[in-house]
Formats: sequence, C-alpha cells, structure tokens
Amino acid sequence: MMHKFILASVLAFSATAFAAEGSLQKECASCHNISGPVAQTLKQAFAKKGPDLSYAGNKYRQDWIVSWLQKPTRIRPAGMVYGDHIKHGAKSDEIDPSTLANHKALSTADATAVAAELMQLKPHSDLLAKEKIEPGTITKQDGEMNFDKFWGCMACHLIEPEYGGLSGPELYTAAKRLQPEFIASFIRNPQAWEPKTWMPNKGASDGFIVKMVRYFDVLSKESANAQ
Ligand code: HEC
Ligand code: HEC
Repeated sequence: MMHKFILASVLAFSATAFAAEGSLQKECASCHNISGPVAQTLKQAFAKKGPDLSYAGNKYRQDWIVSWLQKPTRIRPAGMVYGDHIKHGAKSDEIDPSTLANHKALSTADATAVAAELMQLKPHSDLLAKEKIEPGTITKQDGEMNFDKFWGCMACHLIEPEYGGLSGPELYTAAKRLQPEFIASFIRNPQAWEPKTWMPNKGASDGFIVKMVRYFDVLSKESANAQ
C-alpha cells in the first residue's frame, strides 16, 4: 500500500515538474530551436541537431505531436543533416544507421503538456492565412506524376516507406503530421519559413500546391490502412 502511494506521488510530481513553464527550454532546446529566429546562415543550418520548433503551432497537428512524442519514429531517413549520416556503399551512398540516435519518448502527461506549449508558438500566421484549400481529392497516379515527373520532388522525399529520396522528411505521413495550410505555404515558398533550407523554390502554381495537399492526404490514408 505504502509503496504504491509513494510511487504515485513521485509520478504525479514529475508530470507537473515537466509541465511547468520552461521545461521546453530545459529538456528540448539543446537540440531544437524553440525561441527563434530560425537558422539564417548555412553554418547555423548545418549545426541543427533537430528540426526547428519555434513555429510549431503553425506547422504541426497537436494530436500528432502528442502521440509521436510517446512513440517516436524516424521521419528524416538520414537524420537532420544528410551528409552526417551517409557512408559510401558499393553502388551509391548509403545511410549509416549506427550514427542515428532514437528520439527520447515521453509519458502521456508530459507529451500532452509539451504539445500544448508548442502549439502556442505561432510566427508566420500571415503566411498561413494566404492559403485556401478547397475540399477535393486526386488520384494517386495524378499526384505521383506531378510529384515525381513534373516537379522532381521525389529526389529528396519518400512517398512510401522505402521509395523515394532520403535527404528530406518522409511525406507519406505529411498529412497526419502537418497542418494543410503549412504544407501549402512551405511548398509555395520554403525559404519564407527556413531561409537556408535545401528545398528549392520551384515557383509552384496554386493548382500544383492544392494537388500536393490532396496527394499527401491520399498517401496518409493508405499508409494508415497498411499498418
Ligand atoms: C538529442 C537531441 C534531441 C533532443 C534532446 C530532443 N529532440 Fe526532438 N528531435 C530530434 C531530432 C534529430 C528529430 C528529427 C527526428 C527525425 O526526423 O527522424 C526530432 C524531432 C522532434 C519532433 C518531430 C518534428 C519533426 O518535424 O520531425 C518533435 C515534435 C520533437 N522532436 C519534440 C521534442 C521535444 C518536445 C523535446 C524535449 C522533451 C525534444 N524533442 C528533445 C532531436 C532531439
Ligand atoms: C533538394 C531536395 C528537395 C527537393 C527537390 C524537394 N524538397 Fe521538400 N524538403 C526538403 C527538405 C530538406 C525539407 C525539410 C525542411 C527543412 O527543415 O529544411 C523539405 C520539406 C518539405 C515539406 C515539409 C515537410 C516537413 O515535415 O517539414 C514539404 C511538404 C515538402 N518538402 C514538399 C516538397 C515538394 C512538393 C517538392 C517538389 C516541388 C519538394 N518538397 C522538393 C528537400 C527537398
């Protein structure tokens, strides 16, 4: 009885301690930029140890943050900075998994508290306000033609767990992770969010951008069904 009581109060204490003001700075800021500004020079971009979270509230879906933090999976197949995790293979460059660390997992209480804090970080609401996404759908084939053949996005992004490029974040989970207006805005002008990102500004048209938002929806539903 006594033991149970002590354990319960220790757990309760650590949950409130984590949820307290400043925990993001203490626990997360060694790898993530929380307070901005985002990387302005190549040197700062290459030094990043994790994705920028200073605009998290305008980027992620809150429910996704809560569940991912409890069971983190790899999103960038070659880590934050591609060149740091590559070795030369027989045919081409290969990822060296021994150089990639697993992300720390949080309890439900901590994940919920941290996600609520992250959702308050909202620079660039003006950029999101410009994106209007009418409901609609697209065939997977039309999406893939545009993504791969017409616009060359496949060079850097996976559209299935082992299919596509390795230097950017996987995109078959994009619709689960990201707000649709953020996806649209980032494709329109990646440098407006991350001045030193490797993703090129291809001058995407409104039509293409909406197609991509719908395409990622199709891919997310498909990968959810496969699990
Ligand atoms: C040792 C460095 C390190 C620490 C400490 C760390 N992270 Fe991360 N985090 C990373 C890396 C690297 C990724 C990218 C993982 C991937 O792409 O596979 C990441 C990804 C994330 C993501 C997903 C974002 C995205 O766009 O992929 C969230 C949310 C996140 N971290 C939150 C946190 C929180 C909250 C804390 C503090 C409790 C924390 N992290 C502590 C390195 C770290
Ligand atoms: C040269 C490589 C490259 C190409 C080509 C490229 N991207 Fe990216 N993309 C990236 C990188 C790297 C990021 C991560 C942003 C960052 O933190 O710098 C990214 C991020 C994204 C994101 C946000 C995902 C997230 O989890 O943050 C979307 C959506 C996206 N790209 C879509 C596209 C589309 C659509 C195209 C084709 C028009 C494209 N990308 C072409 C490298 C690329």
